[in-house]
Amino acid sequence: MSQTYTVITGASSGIGQAFAYKMASQGHALIINGRNKERLQAVKDQALALGADQVLAYNADLADGDKAEAFAKFCFEQGDIDHFVHCLGFGDFSYIQDQSYAQIQKLTHTNLLLTMFLSKRFAAGMLGQATVKTNITLIASVAGLIQTPQSAVYAATKAGVHAFANGLRQDLWNTKITVTCILPGPVDTPFFDVADKDGAYFENVKAFSTTPEIVAEKMAKAIEKDQLEVVVPGYYGLMSRVLGLAPTLGYRLIHLAYEKGQFRD
Ligand SMILES: NC(=O)c1ccc[n+]([C@@H]2O[C@H](COP(=O)([O-])OP(=O)(O)OC[C@H]3O[C@@H](n4cnc5c(N)ncnc54)[C@H](OP(=O)(O)O)[C@@H]3O)[C@@H](O)[C@H]2O)c1
Repeated sequence: MSQTYTVITGASSGIGQAFAYKMASQGHALIINGRNKERLQAVKDQALALGADQVLAYNADLADGDKAEAFAKFCFEQGDIDHFVHCLGFGDFSYIQDQSYAQIQKLTHTNLLLTMFLSKRFAAGMLGQATVKTNITLIASVAGLIQTPQSAVYAATKAGVHAFANGLRQDLWNTKITVTCILPGPVDTPFFDVADKDGAYFENVKAFSTTPEIVAEKMAKAIEKDQLEVVVPGYYGLMSRVLGLAPTLGYRLIHLAYEKGQFRD
């Protein structure tokens, strides 16, 4: 019988790394991806120490379409894939007036286009394999539900991931593949080193932030229970519903709070 793997992108850091450790401690065999070779190797070593059955580290920048295709091909050549957990992504928090075409393109390509391509590619591969029950998990964001200044493009990519997850689930409804969408609020990871270079953004949302380990725990539970989507922490889901009832007032308040430096996600 061939080996069955959990595939995790963005596993060299943050949420993907925490989820890799969670799955490793449950004895899964993993294929992990990231760009940074040393950090990915360190995650592999730690995952093996935590009890992973086997760990294959695949180092590549998946924003290149050919490399993304080669990665998917590699994964299915190793055996069956029971989970495809797509944690790769980045943020770029700045005013839209200051963003270039190249910045907008890179965010949209990496966060949204690549998510759609890899999901399609892994769904197609999973449908053709023997494993009976499989799952695709995508990471959207609270930013896709509640929009704030300096995150218009990032928020649009994440609203897109959320919508795509809902559509993907519809297309795969009567198949062996379930689709889970995770919508985290601010999480204390190196994400902010890239998204928020001067550190001001994270300073403002620190009090509302959670840890990658908590997100990984919720992800594992959501997948196990076949939950369609999970907002972490849950109160952001409630805030989003209240905002939907009174968007004019809600967005005025968000803007005021943001201007006072109280709340920026
Ligand atoms: N942190 C938050 O507050 C937060 C909130 C909501 C949603 N999210 C979402 O959660 C996901 C994970 O974020 P995180 O907080 O864990 O961030 P992180 O710590 O910066 O990790 C991002 C991961 O994505 C990988 N990556 C980025 N671009 C890549 C590319 N082109 N090819 C291959 N790998 C690439 C990075 O690899 P290398 O480091 O090896 O380059 C890293 O492993 C992202 O989709 C993010 O948008 C984060």
